Amino acid sequence: MTRAMTTTTATTTVESPPPPKRPKLHGRTFYQSIGSPKRIVAPMVDASELAWRILSRKYNADAAYSPMLHARLFAETEPYRRQSLRYAPTSTSASHPEALLSYDGDHRLDRPFLIQFCANDPQHLLAAAKIAQHHCDAVDLNLGCPQGIARKGHYGAFLQEQPDLIYKLINTLHKELDVPVTAKIRILDTKESTLAYAKMVLDAGASILTVHGRRRDQKSHNTGLADWSYIRYLRDNLPPETVIFANGNILYNADVEACLEVTGADGVMCAETNLYNPAIFMPPTASFEERFPRVDVMVRQYLHIVRDLTFGEGNPVVELSKEQYRENASLTCVKSHLFKLLHAVFTRKEYHYIRNTLGKATGHKFDEILKLANELEKVVEEQLKLTPETPEQWDEIMKEAGGPGADAKILRIPWWRCQPYVRPTPQQAYENGAMQKSKKELSVASREGSKESKRELDTGSTASDSKERAPAKRQKLEEPQLEQIKVND
Ligand SMILES: Cc1cc2nc3c(=O)[nH]c(=O)nc-3n(C[C@H](O)[C@H](O)[C@H](O)COP(=O)(O)O)c2cc1C
Repeated sequence: MTRAMTTTTATTTVESPPPPKRPKLHGRTFYQSIGSPKRIVAPMVDASELAWRILSRKYNADAAYSPMLHARLFAETEPYRRQSLRYAPTSTSASHPEALLSYDGDHRLDRPFLIQFCANDPQHLLAAAKIAQHHCDAVDLNLGCPQGIARKGHYGAFLQEQPDLIYKLINTLHKELDVPVTAKIRILDTKESTLAYAKMVLDAGASILTVHGRRRDQKSHNTGLADWSYIRYLRDNLPPETVIFANGNILYNADVEACLEVTGADGVMCAETNLYNPAIFMPPTASFEERFPRVDVMVRQYLHIVRDLTFGEGNPVVELSKEQYRENASLTCVKSHLFKLLHAVFTRKEYHYIRNTLGKATGHKFDEILKLANELEKVVEEQLKLTPETPEQWDEIMKEAGGPGADAKILRIPWWRCQPYVRPTPQQAYENGAMQKSKKELSVASREGSKESKRELDTGSTASDSKERAPAKRQKLEEPQLEQIKVND
């Protein structure tokens, strides 16, 4: 992947000059020019960095987004830029050791690649996007982030009430950039308002529209199910040349095909499940082992990508300074990726010692983390000696699936294989005491009294939700899993 180098100053950024201008394409023509990607790694803060994208592409992802970057900080702050992106080498720096490493948007390993920003000021966004555009195929605007930090910073889904500002942000990039602009939205309260919103975003110049089928208030314990019927509605009511990516409710490989079929979208974007099982995008023809790879194999493969990106292929792993560590996004995300990849292993008490070792490991001493891969392999090998797997068992597990999409059930994947994290429904979170109804919700439920409104409150879903995805798809959490419920964008 990367060629040998002799120093450990791998994280130094090298500014690159703008490459020769390509004709600027738009909409479907642009989409086709990047190979019509269908399986897309979502933008994820602290999670869709270079190493992770390379890993996901090895497992059949067709395209990937950067983590969301803050446009003003990116435009104005060199240290933030250095922490966010590793630039392509310039011809003048080609003799530098850093030039031998892979970089964000590397044509050999990291395309198609879209860089995402959050912003509320068109000039900040433009300044940032002008720097970023030489390293990617398109620049994306985040209009979906529902977190408190987005409310405070006034970006993401908190721009929804300001269509004029959204128009200006997108239109400025559409007119001024050399590469296309794309946007990622959440659905609104009704299909009609979501359609009007989507039309505005497209009129402003977005070449691809990603639709996350959840509303702004569907977050953390109230995440619930995404509503694919909204995305289908957009597909049916927008011109056929509109390129749409559908986002939400992907737990198993079969869901990708089901989502394409139900929504009619051009591509499916996946976030959370990709972090728990990077093989989520393997094709329908893939074997059980290819869909649910052994965790020890996945961890080793991932850590080797990080090692090669950081030190250069074949070079010794040495301790890094804290600054070198901080400026290497692929390295700073390692622990959090490992916790997710290993979540099923860590539900077992006998392996809590591995969890504790990982918890204590210091990121800039990468060799400590590499040793974990050996321990993990030992543990899985021992388990497989005790309970060897057979193709018949795998067939049995897959039979439980009961078909793709709405009818699928939670599969009993062994703990030593990568598998999705199944978030509890709001109802399960209430039952487990992880979430409590607000006074307002309780009084609305008792006032309206209808069975249907109670059901919606309990499940956070509507009748159309349950048609798209049966709540049976969610499993009851065991104790250790409950600890891991985490806040999602
Ligand atoms: C760890 C994590 C980080 C995320 N960061 C971003 C982000 O930077 N930008 C963004 O638009 N969405 C972000 N999201 C939201 C996802 O892109 C996606 O819209 C959402 O998780 C729903 O998809 P899923 O059901 O496949 O998880 C993030 C999600 C997760 C799990």
